[in-house]
Amino acid sequence: GLPAEVRIHEVGARDGLQNEKTVVPTSVKAEFVHRLAGAGLRTIEATSFVHPKWVPQLADAAELVPQLADLLADPALRLPVLVPNQRGLERALELGVREIAVFGSATESFARANLNRTVDESLAMFEPVVARARAEGLRVRGYLSMCFGDPWEGPVPIGQVAGVARRLHAMGCTELSLGDTIGVATPGHVTALLAELTGGGVPVEQLAVHFHDTYGQALANTLAALQQGVTVVDASAGGLGGCPFAKSATGNLATEDLVWMLHGLGIRTGVDLVRLSATSVWMAEQLGRPSPSRTVRALTHQ
Ligand code: HMG
Ligand code: MG
Repeated sequence: GLPAEVRIHEVGARDGLQNEKTVVPTSVKAEFVHRLAGAGLRTIEATSFVHPKWVPQLADAAELVPQLADLLADPALRLPVLVPNQRGLERALELGVREIAVFGSATESFARANLNRTVDESLAMFEPVVARARAEGLRVRGYLSMCFGDPWEGPVPIGQVAGVARRLHAMGCTELSLGDTIGVATPGHVTALLAELTGGGVPVEQLAVHFHDTYGQALANTLAALQQGVTVVDASAGGLGGCPFAKSATGNLATEDLVWMLHGLGIRTGVDLVRLSATSVWMAEQLGRPSPSRTVRALTHQ
């Protein structure tokens, strides 16, 4: 059966904005995150503490986080940030961040393109980060990219994905987010990967799904994951997003499209769809182009 409730992990301010050509002013990002919280989202990924030359769009992370102090102080809200290494963790901890995400790859090509490391080297880089963060009482999400297909390597074998997933889980990640970075997954593939992981000792309560909507499959893939017991779904407001280090990665599943489906199924999310769509229209104005979300367009006559 389907779950009664889904926790949406909102990635628009991070995965969305990291891929925009326009560098959005810090004050606009802060307003975006506040509006997302106002629309009822409870897990809002805020930014990344990565090398500023690698992701100039998020180079203002240390300026943004203090502007979110009221949200950080709210125990009902979770504001994770991406952290690749000990330097990133130091920067985040200094600012009072309470939740981080490391981000690994199932393939060597993307580990190189995204982290300048092999898969083994990147896991070795994460290990002390996860250990220190857990010791500080932080939640630690482990992203795993290229779980279905890779732009350089093609389809990615399920066993290869499961192997890296189990290593991230064993390292102490409290949640694993399975990334379809370039949006090539289809529902049967999602079901097969989830069965392999849950059968191999990763509890379904610790799994999340992260679909990009390149081929229009993200909602179908999400439904397949819900049927397998997943209750945490990543999405980005208005469908912002992509990944600058993977060609053919377009936007994430739009949060509004996800909420429309979930509410139609009677699944609670806590999200106010009207307020969220208004936020995405406002953000689209800041970026100077319309939202790609079908639901946003339908609800706001864009
Ligand atoms: P590197 O060049 O190998 O770094 O990059 P390094 O460790 O050799 O250090 C070089 C310099 O960078 C040093 O400075 C460090 O201090 C500095 P120098 O001594 O030369 O002056 N440095 C930093 N500065 C600030 N913050 C830091 C930091 N780390 C090092 N954290 C590195 C390695 C991992 C840093 C780099 O590759 C990087 O920043 N990569 C980030 C890429 C990224 O953010 N990608 C997007 C997120 S992943 C994604 O979108 C996929 C996802 O959505 C899921 C999906 O869709 O599949 C999550
Ligand atoms: Mg992504």
